[in-house]
Amino acid sequence: MDQPAAAEIVNLHKTFKTGLGKPVVHAVRGIDMNIRQGEVYGLIGPNGSGKSTLMKALLGLVRPTEGSCSIFGRSSLAPDSKEEVGFLPENPYFYKFLTGAETVSFYGKLCGLSGKPLKEKVRELLELVGLADAADRRLGGYSKGMLQRIGMAQALVQSPRLLVLDEPTGILSTT
Ligand SMILES: Nc1ncnc2c1ncn2[C@@H]1O[C@H](COP(=O)(O)OP(=O)(O)O)[C@@H](O)[C@H]1O
Ligand SMILES: [Mg+2]
Repeated sequence: MDQPAAAEIVNLHKTFKTGLGKPVVHAVRGIDMNIRQGEVYGLIGPNGSGKSTLMKALLGLVRPTEGSCSIFGRSSLAPDSKEEVGFLPENPYFYKFLTGAETVSFYGKLCGLSGKPLKEKVRELLELVGLADAADRRLGGYSKGMLQRIGMAQALVQSPRLLVLDEPTGILSTT
């Protein structure tokens, strides 16, 4: 039997109301997409062209006006479809008073990790994103690029089969 697509988007439309008497915004108009397992897929487009909205619909964070999205064959609107997906939002919000290690550990616990496996995962991920030396510093003192690296570690903490990254190139920033 064929493997289900990592991500499948069928005739996705999303409109937003912007206020009484104001025209609606068509963020996404009739997109079809099929991303197979193991594939790397990039979305390129000008600001406001609907990239983030499409990703949020795929993740079940916004409800399609029309059409449907699924992850590994499960509807994106079903809570369990999130089990195998990691997400780096465009503007992640983190607690400034936590250290890098505490932050990744916090997200690991939310994903059901604990004890030694959690500790090892946190160490491995901070190493991977190049923040091992800053692990015990509070996020309030991190630079923008460092925060995005923490975002990447957070997205990887549950070893997801599908990784969705919004504007990941900010990670290349050194400021
Ligand atoms: N929650 C929202 N309410 C109203 N308009 C929105 C909302 N989210 C996105 N939009 C609008 O939808 C369009 C697409 O936005 P977005 O998906 O963020 O684009 P991109 O990520 O490609 O820059 C824009 O016109 C944006 O203003
Ligand atoms: Mg965007």
